[in-house]
Amino acid sequence: MMRPSGQAPATSLPIGSDADLAWVRQQVRQYAAQLGFGLVQQTKLVTAASELARNTLVHGGGGQAEITALDDGRSRGLRMRFTDQGPGIRDLELAMTDGYTTGGGLGLGLSGAKRLVHEFHVDTEPGRGTTVTAVAWVTQVPSSRPGAG
Ligand SMILES: Nc1ncnc2c1ncn2[C@@H]1O[C@H](COP(=O)(O)OP(=O)(O)OP(=O)(O)O)[C@@H](O)[C@H]1O
Ligand SMILES: [Mg+2]
Repeated sequence: MMRPSGQAPATSLPIGSDADLAWVRQQVRQYAAQLGFGLVQQTKLVTAASELARNTLVHGGGGQAEITALDDGRSRGLRMRFTDQGPGIRDLELAMTDGYTTGGGLGLGLSGAKRLVHEFHVDTEPGRGTTVTAVAWVTQVPSSRPGAG
C-alpha cells in the first residue's frame, strides 16, 4: 500500500456519546501500542485523549477525534486531534489554568492533557468551535549497545 511519506493513514472517530469516548480510548491505546510506546506512555496518551475527548463531548457538544500515526524518519509518534463546532473558548489562557472550569469539573483536563504529551496546540474561536491537537513521540530508553563506548 502506498502511503504519503512519513505518515500512516489517519482514523477519524465520532464523539457523540460516552460509548464513543470508550472507543476513542481503546483506539488510542491500540495505536500507541502498535507504534511502540511503552506502557507508561500509552497510559499517558489514553488519559490525555480521554480528557480532550470528554471536553469535545461536554463543552463542544460533540465532534470528531482524528488519530494519526507519525513517522518523520527518526521517530515514531502519535497525533490526536479533537474537533468540535461548539461555542469555542473565549479566554484560552484562563481555560488552560489548573483548576479553571466553567462546568463544575476539576478544571484539570486541558492543563493536565498538555503535561502528558510533547506538543500541544489549541485552535479556538468563539462561536465557531475548538480544535485541540496533541502529539507524543516514542521516547527510546537509552540502551547499552554492544560495541558502543
Ligand atoms: N472543546 C471545548 N469547547 C469549549 N470550551 C472548552 C472546550 N474544552 C475546554 N473548554 C473550556 O475550558 C475549561 C477548562 O477545561 P478543562 O478540561 O481543563 O476543565 P473541565 O472540563 O471544566 O473539568 P475537568 O477537570 O473535569 O476536565 C472548561 O471548563 C471549558 O470552559
Ligand atoms: Mg475537561
